[in-house]
Amino acid sequence: MNLAVLVSGGGTNLQTIIDHIATNHLRANIRLVVSDNADAFALERATKAGIPTLYIPKGESLSDTLYEKLKSLSIDFIVLAGFLSILSSDFCSKWNGKILNIHPSLLPKYGGKGMYGNRVHQAVIANKETESGATVHFVTQEIDKGQIITQKSCPVLPTDTPSTLAEKVHKIEHQILIEALQKLEIFLTK
Ligand code: GRF
Repeated sequence: MNLAVLVSGGGTNLQTIIDHIATNHLRANIRLVVSDNADAFALERATKAGIPTLYIPKGESLSDTLYEKLKSLSIDFIVLAGFLSILSSDFCSKWNGKILNIHPSLLPKYGGKGMYGNRVHQAVIANKETESGATVHFVTQEIDKGQIITQKSCPVLPTDTPSTLAEKVHKIEHQILIEALQKLEIFLTK
């Protein structure tokens, strides 16, 4: 299973994929790591693992540039692992059913435009939710609305702050991202 992983930040989800491939818990090959942020630490993680990287600046032509780069790489799935740019509708429909995103809430709750990172956890706490979690889903033109592949919850305690909740949710993301990829790998080899 050939993957392209798109990142904008620290890349702990990318690192989890790299580690599971290295220990043979995931049969996959990361062909390329792409970032819209030249300073993303995720790019260093990729380079350290010997994976080719590419920086594409944010902006209107990002999706077209990405499409051109990916089309010759026999990519089975594109993983958005903390990628903050919005991909064009055209790109999403060309890759329909092949793009996965990881979102730090129990979708459909706390999804949509502007709902990312700490904003999600702040909203969950402000609404006094008693549970939150993470979701891996397919990407469609509508932000955070595609079919859910895996989802897992965790309790939100009255003492939780956005940062303690983020920490719990991050651990769940790492688990369910691998579970989702393992499911897709089985599906591909059937
Ligand atoms: C995660 O919280 C993910 O849900 C969101 O971006 C963050 C990426 O974390 N989409 P990392 O860069 O993989 O550590």
